[in-house]
Amino acid sequence: MAATAVVGTQWGDEGKGKIVDYLAERSKYVVRFQGGNNAGHTIVVGDQTFKLHLLPSGCVSGKTGVIGNGCVVDPYVLREELRALRERGVEFDLHLSDCAHLILPYHKLLDGAEEAFKGGHAVGTTGRGIGPCYQDKMARIGIRAGDLLHPERLRKKVMENVGLNQAMLKAYGQKQPLDVEQMLGDLTEAAEVLKPYIMDTATLLQDAAANEEPILLEGAQGIMLDPDHGTYPFVTSSYVASGGMCSGSGLAPRDIGDVVGVVKAYTTRVGAGPFPTELDTQSGVGKHLATVGHEFGTTTGRPRRTGWLDLVVVNHAVRLCGINQLAVTKMDVLKGLDEVLVCTKYRLPDGREVTTVPSDPDDFAAAEPVYESFEGWGDMGDGTWQGLPAPARIYLQFLREKTGAQIKLVGIGPGRSETIVRQ
Ligand code: GDP
Ligand code: IMO
Ligand code: MG
Repeated sequence: MAATAVVGTQWGDEGKGKIVDYLAERSKYVVRFQGGNNAGHTIVVGDQTFKLHLLPSGCVSGKTGVIGNGCVVDPYVLREELRALRERGVEFDLHLSDCAHLILPYHKLLDGAEEAFKGGHAVGTTGRGIGPCYQDKMARIGIRAGDLLHPERLRKKVMENVGLNQAMLKAYGQKQPLDVEQMLGDLTEAAEVLKPYIMDTATLLQDAAANEEPILLEGAQGIMLDPDHGTYPFVTSSYVASGGMCSGSGLAPRDIGDVVGVVKAYTTRVGAGPFPTELDTQSGVGKHLATVGHEFGTTTGRPRRTGWLDLVVVNHAVRLCGINQLAVTKMDVLKGLDEVLVCTKYRLPDGREVTTVPSDPDDFAAAEPVYESFEGWGDMGDGTWQGLPAPARIYLQFLREKTGAQIKLVGIGPGRSETIVRQ
């Protein structure tokens, strides 16, 4: 049995948490393979809402969560998230990769300092220290979860790493010295809670795959935030596209079967960077999407930018990740609109029309969306595919035709039960 992967096809916040929670029912392991607590995944079960940043969404339904080697982990956030979920009576197992890199307090300081340095060109990061932690990983000076198991090694590495990061902070104009002993003390406390979970998760998952145990891979962010294939430099710092699934978990490409792309029925983006189908959130449809869709960041609470569905973007994700199934979320948010638009191609300043994402950032920033128009719908029916109003089904069929991927799930509300399964 091959692993199933779930990825965001836009700029994040597509509803991956809800879809992973739904699909986790048939899984044993639910695995985060990239990103850190820049992610915010919401799961609504009955009258309970869970917002997870590091723990895989499958933990809510008692599945075994795995935080893979491709992730960056803020030990204090993880400790708190574990405590909070257990306090709510949720029971689950967790494994944390010994090779996952740790976000330490100076990474967060550097995140802020880098953003301030960029001024008007700031990315609008979540401020969680994600970029600086991955920078340390690639510079081969990072501190990993496995180091928490070896206090002497940890002390030596932190001492070296603090020196370099302090120098970086100084270069950005921040002169306040870092309190290394305080940091080591805090880290030792967090380590006491996290130690039992730390292990070689790559081998665990490879063995699980060999034994045909069901594995669900939970992507964070969305394809347009991938550093290579997204809107660089307005991206995150981990590989969102398919390569990340393998390098970040230890699974081989042949271990992965279905790839489910989560598509919000319109588009949102938090942070800076180009967004061809963007609307004005202060009026009209843009405001409708922002207010009816409650479009505020799960992690930072920032208002999300809103716009029409962009199939050029979704197809970029389909091609990059080999998506063969779609989960379309938030169809209910479009109800009540007279007309619904979908972007199917871009017109570039030189007059060319393209159906693929231009790799040149200036071309992408100048791309003008070309839309097809659809009739709106007024209700969501009885919760079955057949019960969906005809215009909503026509809209979904159009997505199916244009992407070549099967529509498996349709979200008509935030709750676990507000999900239509297409047999
Ligand atoms: P993620 O980061 O991809 O997991 O998405 P977020 O949790 O950050 O944001 C998605 C938001 O949409 C959350 O508040 C979900 O509860 C909500 N949501 C997910 N699916 C649906 C849906 O089909 N309809 C509605 N109305 N809300 C949904
Ligand atoms: P989920 O998993 C939406 C965005 C930030 C910023 C850029 C870089 O909930 O879909 P970072 O802190 O990663 O260095 O910020 O990426 N971003 C997200 N936007 N959803 C997310 O995660 C995001 N994670 C990062 O807003 O523009
Ligand atoms: Mg989110």
